[in-house]
Amino acid sequence: MAKSQAATDILSLIEADHRQAEQLFEQAEKAKGKKLQDCFKQIYKALNLHAQAEEVVFYPAMREFEETAQYIEEAEEEHTSVKVMLEQMKAMEPGDEDFADMIMDLKDAMMHHIEEEESEIFDTIRECMDEDLLQNLGQEFQQTKSNLEADIEALLANNS
Ligand SMILES: [Fe+2]
Ligand SMILES: [Fe+2]
Repeated sequence: MAKSQAATDILSLIEADHRQAEQLFEQAEKAKGKKLQDCFKQIYKALNLHAQAEEVVFYPAMREFEETAQYIEEAEEEHTSVKVMLEQMKAMEPGDEDFADMIMDLKDAMMHHIEEEESEIFDTIRECMDEDLLQNLGQEFQQTKSNLEADIEALLANNS
């Protein structure tokens, strides 16, 4: 087991994204009206970016190992339901009374997913992927996120 991990290790990067998501939900919990809408936009972008980068870089790497491949199906299903909720919320009118409740449902779904990734899944990954691989995947993860940013902005702006 490696003693120290640089910040570019994919697991550290994913954890940092998860902490950011938790903070955004905390802000959303206290927000109302326009402020809540702004929080939602940040949540929409952060979660879509994170989920897509995981799907492009992280889950395919997990598919390479029998021990980790078993977790992908459920994780992808959870991503799908989070994305469905994000799209439903994007389509809602500002001030819709269900909006705040839906953000909290989204938070619950996300917290469950984060908890699973960071416990069993990360533990298993640390057993089969070495430090070099985790570092390389970290670089790919960062690169993928910056490549996807414009697409996610466009997705947010597109209200169809
Ligand atoms: Fe995920
Ligand atoms: Fe994640």
